Amino acid sequence: MNTFLPFTRPTIDDDTIADVIAVLRSGWITSGPKVQALEQALGAYLGGERIIRTMTSATGGLEMALRAFGVQPGDEVIVPALSFAASANVVVRTGATPVFVDVDLRSRNATAQAMAAAITPRTRVLMPVHFSGLACNMDAILTLAQTHGLRVLEDAAHAIGTRYQGRLIGSFGDVASFSFHANKNMTTVEGGALSFADQTLTQAIDQERFHGIRKDTAGNIDVVSAGGKYNLTDVAAAVGIGQLRRLDEFNQTRRALAHHYFSRLSAHLEPDQLPATGDDGHSWHMFAILLPWTQLGFSRDIFIQKMKDQNIGIGIHYPCIPGLTYYRQQGFNPAAYPNAQQIGAQTVTLPLFPAMTVADVDRVCDALLGLIQ
Ligand SMILES: Cc1ncc(COP(=O)(O)O)c(C=O)c1O
Repeated sequence: MNTFLPFTRPTIDDDTIADVIAVLRSGWITSGPKVQALEQALGAYLGGERIIRTMTSATGGLEMALRAFGVQPGDEVIVPALSFAASANVVVRTGATPVFVDVDLRSRNATAQAMAAAITPRTRVLMPVHFSGLACNMDAILTLAQTHGLRVLEDAAHAIGTRYQGRLIGSFGDVASFSFHANKNMTTVEGGALSFADQTLTQAIDQERFHGIRKDTAGNIDVVSAGGKYNLTDVAAAVGIGQLRRLDEFNQTRRALAHHYFSRLSAHLEPDQLPATGDDGHSWHMFAILLPWTQLGFSRDIFIQKMKDQNIGIGIHYPCIPGLTYYRQQGFNPAAYPNAQQIGAQTVTLPLFPAMTVADVDRVCDALLGLIQ
């Protein structure tokens, strides 16, 4: 029997493990020189013109950015109905209201047009999500924001290494929040980073990241706001430095594997069941297809179990946010977002990670086609 193929798995090389051990032995294991080095390396990767702040998660980063924007109760933030719940939860946690918009069925991204229709006098922020590593139409979204005087907070959890018209996500725009969770294109085990250009945000973000502390030049500490605690450790940063070194190679492998999925599946699935192909800028965080359970005569749970029986792991990314219990209780209705609802009900994420081989993709496709044909 084949060994179990998970839907994702990090690749941590021996050099990185040696660096982690060195940090553990160094006597300085929390935020210090490695965090600084990772922030510098990320800044250089993103073109050298952005301010970078790492942190313990992308969720923390999104929330910190909203707070730095001054988002508060009564404000509205426009969020795609299809994303991980964190995109909306962070809005709720600031006291503001998420206003959901439906996504495009093919790209699974929210369009500027859908966002424009949801703008009200209370709107403060647009939050595009680059779903699965495919960039949103940033020109249209940034223009829309400029026209209405809004901030743009990119949920770039899936999009480290993604390019939009040749430019890396996070190298332009307003603020982008990356995730370095264990299943992302690069990891710090848990972690994330904000990339931004507006220096006026730096102080608020630094305070929110670390207890609201402000230090004078002599090193005396004062607390000027009720800040949080979101600083990354040097142990985690050592993992991130090793990952960033190989990010482009990882993403290139993801692209090649995604290409092979298309070559195996295009003849068997309708275009709308496959993800949008994107261009060379797609970082392929995930490869998710839509399957019509009613037509197939079995449920997604059964499909996942049958794939598991063949030692293949399948993920679900994601249920439509307005259909989740908390959001239903707040009065949201998933039926108002038909594409997100359909994707949430039909989606399955197939294995895709840099240590996979083309033969692994063939194994997944053979098992999948054996079940649905
Ligand atoms: C679209 C999206 N946003 C935000 C997050 C949150 O990332 P983190 O786990 O680093 O907080 C995730 C995590 O999966 C995500 O997929």
